[in-house]
Amino acid sequence: MFIDSHSHIYSEEFSSDREEVIQRAIHSGIHKIILPNIDSSTIKPMMDLADSNPNLFIPLIGLHPTSVKDDFNKELEIMEYWLNKRKFLGIGEIGIDLYWDKTLLKEQTEAFRIQIGWAKKAKIPIVIHVRDSFAEVFEVIEQEKDDSLFGVFHSFTGTAEQASQVIELGFKIGVGGIVTFKNSGLDAVIQQVALEHILIETDSPWLAPVPHRGKRNESAYLTAIATKIATLHNITIEEVGATTTQNTKQLFGF
Ligand code: NI
Repeated sequence: MFIDSHSHIYSEEFSSDREEVIQRAIHSGIHKIILPNIDSSTIKPMMDLADSNPNLFIPLIGLHPTSVKDDFNKELEIMEYWLNKRKFLGIGEIGIDLYWDKTLLKEQTEAFRIQIGWAKKAKIPIVIHVRDSFAEVFEVIEQEKDDSLFGVFHSFTGTAEQASQVIELGFKIGVGGIVTFKNSGLDAVIQQVALEHILIETDSPWLAPVPHRGKRNESAYLTAIATKIATLHNITIEEVGATTTQNTKQLFGF
């Protein structure tokens, strides 16, 4: 049994065959799928999907860094409205993305800090998106760190040293399809990370693992990621499923 700790299955990419994708996930042993939000436009599809099967889906609320524009305060107001309206098990996904646009670093950092504040107040975890921004994200986390701040670095792609820094701060490492990519170097890093610190995720529809690389990703492909981790740690895929399920439940408190 597995938990896909990060999937955007509510997105338009699945509009024509979402039910089949869900069935394939269930048949692959996925019993929970965590749904991080993107921005105000994705809340309705995400919540509709979550409400259609509350046993399977766990929605999160938050503003994604690539959706942080000049009007981000308005977006954050909408996130906060939902945060007060419904019970959420985490804030996500949030963070800093300097790959697409470096000009909004100040705004992204401010939005990140504000949302970290919500998570600390509610004592729920944050799901962090990092892209070309490890130093910037880490600086914010170190400044904000206290007993009520915890979470996961989703789709981790850093070095062994960065993995150690994440673990030292008490955060989890989200491992996705990139660990299966040839020459990513991530396999050697994840081999050194104890399973107790790892969550597994697809980040579907993006980052499909080998042998589906380049295609649309879906939760059923999580088994390819679990298999890779099992090989790297020289354990069974069942052990990967059991421990990462336990880690995910502990982090999100369900
Ligand atoms: Ni994501």
